[in-house]
Amino acid sequence: MSVDLLGTDSAAAVEVRGVSRVFKAKGGPVTALHEINLRIEPGELFGLLGPNGAGKSTLIKILSTLLLPSAGSASIFGLDVVTETDRVRRIMNLVAGGDFSGYGLLTVREQLAMFAQFYGMPYREGMRRVDEQIEAFGIGEIKDRKISALSTGQRQKLNFARSFLNEPWILFLDEPTIGLDVSAARDVRDRVRAFQAAQPGRTVLLTTHYMAEADEMCDRIAIVDHGRILAQGTPAELKRMVQKESLFIVGVDALPPTMSVANLRAIPGVISVAMRDEATFDATGVGSPTTRLAIGLKEDGALGGVISALAGAGAHLREISKSEPTLEEVFVQLVGRGIAESSEEPRSE
Ligand SMILES: Nc1ncnc2c1ncn2[C@@H]1O[C@H](COP(=O)(O)OP(=O)(O)O)[C@@H](O)[C@H]1O
Ligand SMILES: [Mg+2]
Repeated sequence: MSVDLLGTDSAAAVEVRGVSRVFKAKGGPVTALHEINLRIEPGELFGLLGPNGAGKSTLIKILSTLLLPSAGSASIFGLDVVTETDRVRRIMNLVAGGDFSGYGLLTVREQLAMFAQFYGMPYREGMRRVDEQIEAFGIGEIKDRKISALSTGQRQKLNFARSFLNEPWILFLDEPTIGLDVSAARDVRDRVRAFQAAQPGRTVLLTTHYMAEADEMCDRIAIVDHGRILAQGTPAELKRMVQKESLFIVGVDALPPTMSVANLRAIPGVISVAMRDEATFDATGVGSPTTRLAIGLKEDGALGGVISALAGAGAHLREISKSEPTLEEVFVQLVGRGIAESSEEPRSE
């Protein structure tokens, strides 16, 4: 299938307009998604970041035609996920971490061959793709092993190999690295990048509750909580929302007697100065020999004035580093709690 995914028309890879989803539950209806709007461009690696119960999987299921929205509409490369289900299924694939669909009695190669058939590939073409994926994922050694005998990491490789079979334009990854060890998770991330690099326009929408994964992988992120998108942007844009000033940590041997925190604050461009650690020494002279100052600046360029003032007063500079906020800090500010301490309590309406 050779297509120009960047297309002649300007269809978004994902367009979600006012999508809501309500589940019937014992304690009353649960609103998993509240009028979500989202647009993802072809070629993006977009992340939905949020705690358990935020609604991430519900949105992925709607976009991958496994679940109907209660209200609103959504399309994938211009195809409506409710009315053009068959065409949508042909251009997308889904990998969900944790759970595993497959037939334990089949071997890895048989399982892939079966999916190639499901995807409607002619036999020869299908087997060629199957062997290509086995090679690409380095699972040649286990290709004749029964699925029931695979480790979690091997199963996830098989899941990914399966998802690449139909050369999807868009790949939905629901917590793709959950339960994987560090090296298997890195492997998965590398394969996803290689998949996207192989053809311009290939799009990935992933969900995760791992901050570092979202930060490292995603071009843009939407932070989701209780079925609502609270903010979206590039990781850098999101971080700038919580920290407008640029923050530097400057370490000196000690603050000279002629120099006070107040003197530093008076330097043009300096917004704030705080002492992080003060140099301390015990009777034998052993201790922490660095005084660390956290200096907030209007812009990076103001650092020069601070450094020359410190050096002019006779301080010896030991370190300078720029302090970037983490996505965790962004999350706490927006959501009001950490991602790990989030409640999974559904909200009844
Ligand atoms: N089939 C279902 N029946 C009832 N409630 C559901 C169902 N699926 C999800 N929910 C509820 O919808 C909310 C969002 O769930 P989900 O989309 O799985 O969140 P996430 O993937 O972000 O952890 C949760 O409150 C969950 O309990
Ligand atoms: Mg989920």
